[in-house]
Amino acid sequence: MSVRPIRITGDPVLHTRAAPVTSWDDSLQELLIDMVDTMRAAPGVGLAAPQIGVSQQVFVWEWTDDEGVFHQGAVINPTLKIGPRHRGKPDPDLDLEGCLSVPDLRFPLGRSDRVVLGGITPQGNPVQISAQGWLARIFQHEYDHLQGNLYIDRLRFRDKREARADIRDNGWGAPGNSWLPGVDDFESDHEAEEA
Ligand code: NI
Repeated sequence: MSVRPIRITGDPVLHTRAAPVTSWDDSLQELLIDMVDTMRAAPGVGLAAPQIGVSQQVFVWEWTDDEGVFHQGAVINPTLKIGPRHRGKPDPDLDLEGCLSVPDLRFPLGRSDRVVLGGITPQGNPVQISAQGWLARIFQHEYDHLQGNLYIDRLRFRDKREARADIRDNGWGAPGNSWLPGVDDFESDHEAEEA
């Protein structure tokens, strides 16, 4: 078990479509354990394998909703059916999204309110989960990671321009940057709402 460094935007692994998992072996179980350890240490509500440098179709999540219900899971080779797209301007507070691979930044992004996640469990069984609200957002965010997309790629023009400037000011946007939860001082002053 170990917490692994989280790659920062600009690293090619974050901007490349991840490969499907083909074997359910010990290395997959080890990867899943490390992903959960890293997500908890960050802390974050979701993590995709490319974020720790592994270009495989795997993501994990852990999130407690407003009613106190704990949602947790892992999916391999996911599919995502996305409901009607968000229309109009994103809400500057309610739609504020963040990403552990673009640490400490937040931008509003409209997402679909409903999705159906399909895929395979770590035990090798098919799974289908209907999600709404923030959990639906987490699934869209993580699914995007596996396609090589970050949420900042989806921002409105002005927000995207601001994000690019912030990324440049931090010296990111080029290969080779990462941060280690528990060591580097990112995300510690936020609620765990990043993925
Ligand atoms: Ni992310």
